[in-house]
Amino acid sequence: MNDTILATSGLTVRFGGLVALSELNVSISKGDVIGLIGPNGSGKTTFFNTISGLVRSSSGSIIFDGSDTTKMKVDQLASRGLARTFQRSRLCLPLSVFDNIALGAQGRLSSTLWGNIVRRSAFHAELRQLVEQIEDLLSNFDDNLARKIFDSTETLGMIDRRRVEICRALLGKPSLLLLDEPSAGMTHDETNQLMDEILAIRPKFGDPTIVIVEHEMGLIERITDHCIVLNYGQKICEGTFREVSADSAVRRAYLGQS
Ligand SMILES: Nc1ncnc2c1ncn2[C@@H]1O[C@H](COP(=O)(O)OP(=O)(O)OP(=O)(O)O)[C@@H](O)[C@H]1O
Ligand SMILES: [Mg+2]
Repeated sequence: MNDTILATSGLTVRFGGLVALSELNVSISKGDVIGLIGPNGSGKTTFFNTISGLVRSSSGSIIFDGSDTTKMKVDQLASRGLARTFQRSRLCLPLSVFDNIALGAQGRLSSTLWGNIVRRSAFHAELRQLVEQIEDLLSNFDDNLARKIFDSTETLGMIDRRRVEICRALLGKPSLLLLDEPSAGMTHDETNQLMDEILAIRPKFGDPTIVIVEHEMGLIERITDHCIVLNYGQKICEGTFREVSADSAVRRAYLGQS
């Protein structure tokens, strides 16, 4: 059995003259929690953007779940089980919690606009099922939040907004979940709480592999099986948190930052 969910080989991304990812070879095992760490501008978000189909690589290859996905688009990758959250929130605040999460179901509903008009009862049944599914998803995090399913997202506090983004990513039962700085805008305690919630509900979703970008090293140390360290787009080290945090190149990369 192949236990690798994601492998890149020589993955390189250039933005004009800037090399944002350079000859990156990574291999990520199914079911692991991986910390992707490195100083600001080291290429962490670019890595996520490239493997999730938002940014096209300049060279190299990406194998996701046994298929070459190097040239695949965002929606193809999503339907194959790759989901992510964004460093800067992508919630549409005036819309309801339901609307924001249901956006993640786009393409999975069987209904079409014409079908919805002529087959009202089938459309209503499908919608009711989606409401129940999303309520269930939210109540995994917090029953109170599930009761706010039709509230506007802007009425929610930061931790609830993050939960909504994670529910949107989880809706398609992904096999690989990429979390880009889920702690942004939250307190230390909220961050730990949210991660504990994600880890607690993970078995219900078939234990997806998680790659997390996070600057809070206490959290990375606590939750990851393995860490990959980037600097200037290159992988400078990998191993357990204990191993990478003792590495001299990693220490230099972080000390070089103001
Ligand atoms: N679309 C783009 N066009 C041009 N340059 C970009 C683009 N996206 C990223 N970069 C550059 O690529 C480099 C890597 O950026 P990236 O956002 O991947 O870093 P990061 O490790 O996620 O940083 P941070 O910790 O600050 O989020 C940076 O120099 C950045 O300015
Ligand atoms: Mg980033």
